[in-house]
Amino acid sequence: MALFQSSTRNIPDAPRAPRHVAVIMDGNGRWAKQRFLPRVAGHQRGVKTLRELVLTCLDMKIEYLTVFAFSSENWRRPADEVSFLMELFVKVLKREFKHLHKDNVRLKIIGDRSRLGDKLNHLITETEALTANNTALTFTVAANYGGRWDIMQATQAMLRAHPEFIDGFSEDDLAAYLSMSYAPEPDLFIRTGGEQRISNFLLWQLAYTELYFTDTLWPAFDRTELEKAIASYQHRERRFGRISEQLQQDKPVA
Ligand code: FPP
Repeated sequence: MALFQSSTRNIPDAPRAPRHVAVIMDGNGRWAKQRFLPRVAGHQRGVKTLRELVLTCLDMKIEYLTVFAFSSENWRRPADEVSFLMELFVKVLKREFKHLHKDNVRLKIIGDRSRLGDKLNHLITETEALTANNTALTFTVAANYGGRWDIMQATQAMLRAHPEFIDGFSEDDLAAYLSMSYAPEPDLFIRTGGEQRISNFLLWQLAYTELYFTDTLWPAFDRTELEKAIASYQHRERRFGRISEQLQQDKPVA
């Protein structure tokens, strides 16, 4: 049984303030280049921005924040940048996990962890366990994540548990095995850095998410920028396949 309503099978609540915000944090390298700094300085500054975003989400009572830290395709980057990013994840987790816990944040990592290395895996396991019962904000970091990978691993896990589903299964059956089965689908997706694409992020979960793109580079994405994205979201009409007039009625039957 799925925990949350699917946007294709039901008409979910469309809260005025987004309950779940998903972010592609793009533009670190360009931010650094504009300042004649090495690319990695942009990632370092990006961590500061992310830390502030977590605090802002807590303040705004956003329940779920999900960020794309490293895609399954990011291994194609120069080897020294990849290893810098992995070291950065370890350093940041070591430094931040106590603060996250104190702030009542539940940390979840999604993605294929088999390539992340022992040190990082160990830290992830520890931090997830420590923060598992926290309730203010569920903060998910996608690391070595790909939307297609997620759908494939879910299909495999589902069929392993239910071989009889080979003859047919429902969306809810599959959704229960996706990495983010613990969260509602995102209400608002934000991508910084000027590109307008999903880049193999939460392919399944973004089916009816409102998309917001900004030219602002990730290190410069502050509270005012988040407020702009939320204001844009609040002007959208979330019809989930219905026509405008139906929205006046109270939750018609799908
Ligand atoms: C995209 O900018 C950014 C990344 C691939 C890395 C994002 C990671 C962080 C902000 C650190 C997060 C840390 C933790 C612990 C979650 P880019 O390098 O593609 O920028 P560009 O498009 O300007 O080159």
